[in-house]
Amino acid sequence: MIKKGIILSGGKGTRMSPLTKAVNKQLLPIYDKPLIYYPLSILMLANIRDILIIVNKGQLGQYKKILPNGDNLGIKISYKEQASPKGLPEAFILGEKFIAEDNVALILGDNFFYGQNLTQQLKKNTTLKKGARIILHKVIKPELYGVAKINSNNKVLHIKEKPKKYISDLAITGLYFFDNNVIKYAKKLKPSKRGELEIVDLINIYKKKKNLSADLIGRGGAWLDTGSIEDFYKTSAFVSAIENRQGFKIACLEEIALNNKWINKGNIQKAIKFYGNCEYSNYLKKLV
Ligand code: TTP
Repeated sequence: MIKKGIILSGGKGTRMSPLTKAVNKQLLPIYDKPLIYYPLSILMLANIRDILIIVNKGQLGQYKKILPNGDNLGIKISYKEQASPKGLPEAFILGEKFIAEDNVALILGDNFFYGQNLTQQLKKNTTLKKGARIILHKVIKPELYGVAKINSNNKVLHIKEKPKKYISDLAITGLYFFDNNVIKYAKKLKPSKRGELEIVDLINIYKKKKNLSADLIGRGGAWLDTGSIEDFYKTSAFVSAIENRQGFKIACLEEIALNNKWINKGNIQKAIKFYGNCEYSNYLKKLV
């Protein structure tokens, strides 16, 4: 069982400047809550309670205001600062002590997932013992993403970052599951031309060892990468549409923790006090 997860929540946020000049992207709102709530909710739905959040140097204070140590959610949150964005695989170098002897999940702080059976699918992937698993989703413009070609057994045959020539329309999403070798492999990587350690190079090590599998989010599910301003607002609109139609919130962390029996109704009362008089609190009131 994978019981540890890392949220990579630093980054330059260049595409969203000037919004990201003073505030980190992951603290900006997707509709009614900070972006970071969404990837955190995904780890919690996967039953992962030991979570490392990697943030930019100097931004720890801001994060701790909204997500202190996890006690309020019945989980454990620790932090690590990244001096500068040197690439996604650095998560495993910075997270070496946190991961220790275990396997680990990685989610990018700006990725949004939603869909039926998602919880079941997440839990299934945390049973990974050996190798690595990537999560794929069909897209119309594969040339904009890292993509994977798979066979009928979901074994990965080929992966390519932003392919100019078509190889597959399955984009590699920002959710990954790795065995403990990931620390060793990440340390072996060399920076690419753009000066970063590349996740595709890391995944390729597993592929070469025939240890890379994939899982697909079907057409009933949504994956949105909120990296550009346009996608950011599209995701907000998506959350607003679902929440206002159904009356359920997406990524209400306290609700997930309560459903998982990690906290009790007393904790929800405390959360209501913490958030104060707002629409999010009104939702929490309905839970108790
Ligand atoms: P990216 O989308 O690659 O980059 P970014 O968020 O810095 O934005 P931009 O391209 O506009 O400059 O990052 C994906 C996610 O991973 C995002 O949540 C930021 C995070 N990240 C880190 O925490 N550390 C890193 O070294 C990198 C490259 C990204």
